Amino acid sequence: MKKIGVLTSGGDAPGMNAAIRSVCRTALHNQLECFGIMRGFQGLIDNDIKRLPTTAVANILQRGGTMLKTARCQDFFEEKGRAKAAANLNEQGIEALVVIGGDGSFKGAQKLYKEQGINVIGVPGTIDNDIVGTDYTIGYDTALNTAISAIDKIRDTAEAHDRIFIVEVMGRDAGFLALNSGISCGAQHIFIPEKQEDFDYFVKEVTDDRKRNKLTNLIIVAEGDEFGGAQKINDYLIDRIPNLQSRVTILGHIQRGGSPTAFDRILASKMGYAAVNALIQNKSGEMIGIQGGKIIELGFGTLSSSQRLLEDDLTQMASILSK
Ligand code: F6P
Repeated sequence: MKKIGVLTSGGDAPGMNAAIRSVCRTALHNQLECFGIMRGFQGLIDNDIKRLPTTAVANILQRGGTMLKTARCQDFFEEKGRAKAAANLNEQGIEALVVIGGDGSFKGAQKLYKEQGINVIGVPGTIDNDIVGTDYTIGYDTALNTAISAIDKIRDTAEAHDRIFIVEVMGRDAGFLALNSGISCGAQHIFIPEKQEDFDYFVKEVTDDRKRNKLTNLIIVAEGDEFGGAQKINDYLIDRIPNLQSRVTILGHIQRGGSPTAFDRILASKMGYAAVNALIQNKSGEMIGIQGGKIIELGFGTLSSSQRLLEDDLTQMASILSK
């Protein structure tokens, strides 16, 4: 093997740049040429590929976003698109690929490997932390800390006005960001997709809090929650509790940006390094993960199609601790 490629795909996540740097420099250290593919799988199809010398990845470790840009590529869902991508790689003599991304990106990577015979190793990068087989994904820790810092600020104004704040965080169908930002910020209620809620009981709790003169309430909602988000929960509450002072904040894409935390920089460096070393050992069709603090390799095939579950339901604990 003489040439490898690296791409970032799906939603960007802080730490992706650190992973690109790690892949590139590990490759160069092992006398492999490294190529960056622009805009994820779209760049593979469009043949938008550039050689990465060591200087190309200088001064990116600490930056959010991704220097290779990213995309959600519709054409890659079609076999025709994947065949074009494989042909472009073969033409350039790029024998293996590191795909940094989330669940959807890994599905594409798996097809590229199985159907088109391209050697691929996946590196999990998503703020959602929702990939089966790894305790952490690159970007989650930074996004969590960004959410916490925003929610702490919201609490100041909530207290000042004796208001209820309903804050919506990202996470797609997963509740990791919501649950752990809620615990970290002392939220009274946390709504996550993994748990069904008794909304009448919730209204009763907020009403009881008000009776005992607890007027500030911090409620964290995962965007994928069954109720349909923070605005709907707010509407439900104001319809049932007279004179409620409430506000909604949707944190949105602020959670995706910013300089990665130390945790994400180190995780990304370790995972990029492990991915190239796996390719050098002729491994393919695998994802790098971290379990119990150890970097591991997992076959794509072992990634179940089911959603990664939260280990514990800590919403009750969070509620008890915030009383
Ligand atoms: O998967 C990362 C993520 O930020 C999710 O939390 C969110 O639902 C989604 O991407 C938003 O995607 P887009 O930036 O394409 O709107």
